[in-house]
Amino acid sequence: MTAETARFSEAALAEYRAILQRYPERRAALLPTLWLAQREFGWLPLPVLEYVAELMELPLAWVTATASFYTMYWKQAPGRWHLQVCRNLPCALRGADDVRAAVEQRLGIRHGEKTTDGRFSLEEVECLASCDTAPVLQVNNAEYHENLTVERALALIERLANG
Ligand code: FES
Repeated sequence: MTAETARFSEAALAEYRAILQRYPERRAALLPTLWLAQREFGWLPLPVLEYVAELMELPLAWVTATASFYTMYWKQAPGRWHLQVCRNLPCALRGADDVRAAVEQRLGIRHGEKTTDGRFSLEEVECLASCDTAPVLQVNNAEYHENLTVERALALIERLANG
């Protein structure tokens, strides 16, 4: 992918224009535009960041700095299933370390890594805002798995591996 080939679809462009309407200045729309770009392209490689900078008429340094700051923006291609395990205190008190260790062992990867077949990637993240159902694991930025145990986490991986 190059900056020339990284282009929003017509639907995404319409969404981008709607985002711009919600903000008093273009720069303020950067976060939702990056989120849109991640949804559109799957992650945020440099050509996509260059495209966003060009589209928004912002310095590339602003765009790359913003994308770098937030872990929710993926700077590496995730696996087919991107697993995010919460590492904050409420989850830790309810067994998140055991869940993470079991996932790591089952998949043979650790934080920031991807399985060699590209099916799974793993990331430790800050609070997923579901502390009352800790420990929590999120799949593909969308699907929460709550009140996890080691057994339930391993069963989830088996289901995803076969999906
Ligand atoms: S501490 Fe894990 S969801 Fe809040």
